[in-house]
Amino acid sequence: HRKLRVALLGAGSVGSQVANLLLTHREELAERSGAELELAGIAVRDVDAPRDVELPRELLTTDAESLIVGSDIVIELMGGIEPARSYVLAALTSGADVVTGNKALLATHGAEIFDAADQVGASVSYEAAVAAAIPIIRPLKDSLAGDRIQRIFGIVNGSTNFILDKMDREGLSAQEAQQLATDLGYLEADPTLDLEGYDAAQKAAILASLAFHTKISMDDVHREGISNVTAEMIEGARKAGSVVKLLAICERLEEDGEESISVRVYPALIGRDHPLASVHGGNNAVFVEAAAAGPLMFYGAGAGGVQTASAVLGDVVSAARRHIAGGVGVGESPRMSLPTSPIGRILTRY
Ligand code: HSE
Repeated sequence: HRKLRVALLGAGSVGSQVANLLLTHREELAERSGAELELAGIAVRDVDAPRDVELPRELLTTDAESLIVGSDIVIELMGGIEPARSYVLAALTSGADVVTGNKALLATHGAEIFDAADQVGASVSYEAAVAAAIPIIRPLKDSLAGDRIQRIFGIVNGSTNFILDKMDREGLSAQEAQQLATDLGYLEADPTLDLEGYDAAQKAAILASLAFHTKISMDDVHREGISNVTAEMIEGARKAGSVVKLLAICERLEEDGEESISVRVYPALIGRDHPLASVHGGNNAVFVEAAAAGPLMFYGAGAGGVQTASAVLGDVVSAARRHIAGGVGVGESPRMSLPTSPIGRILTRY
């Protein structure tokens, strides 16, 4: 097998699991991708920080820039905008394929990153950025590429679903449920990202961009989190045969013959008999409605280190196959960046 040099940036809950899988599943990954994936190093902020999985110390480095140089595949799992953005751009400029789980980065600087990839014919894949283990990016990008998607809606944030579910099923107060989620490590380092709906809005922007073949950023998304949802509201919903869920909704609308796109995140009442009402704990569920395919449902673990690592590894194998096959054109469209909206107007409403 040909050897490919893989650089990993970040060894948090997802990154450490990715490193572990790359090291322990070496042979299988080589068989499947046609290339030996050689983990050249893991860039971290602090080599002595405690990790979810023990990693070979000699692979850890604080020098991300040097690690990127000469790599064939760069996996970015640092999160946040900077320095992740600069590293991703550096990797693409050097011709490496990038695999990332960074929804914040894609939802704010997606256009810049995809343009940089286009210029050198490199790929950016990000299955892990939305709904963790659930395959949703590739189905939208590839499987449904010939269809016309009308609407995507569902639960795309695991930790707020966990909180709302605890309040509904165990009668916890908002504060108790939030504390539990914090203690279990379910919330992002900055918990407002989850609680105020930013994380869900980032994912909604990514899904809407893919579904509607246009550039939709975080700023186009109407966003409302769960911080105003009280135990009384949950109780009231229950009495009315409903449950409160934080929904992300992306849809095409037509008004007076003019088409627009609406992307919004807010806590909504769902009837108990709707399948979304049965999405418990940290799970996610995404419904896609396409003109020809009809309604489709994607369900599974929406958060978690090893679950998200599964999606990352899938992208790494695809990137390796693409590399082996000699570049652009294998399993994805040669042009990665999205055209500006043919629809003209982006409308936010709820
Ligand atoms: N904070 C995110 C969530 C992690 O709770 O869904 C997965 O993206």
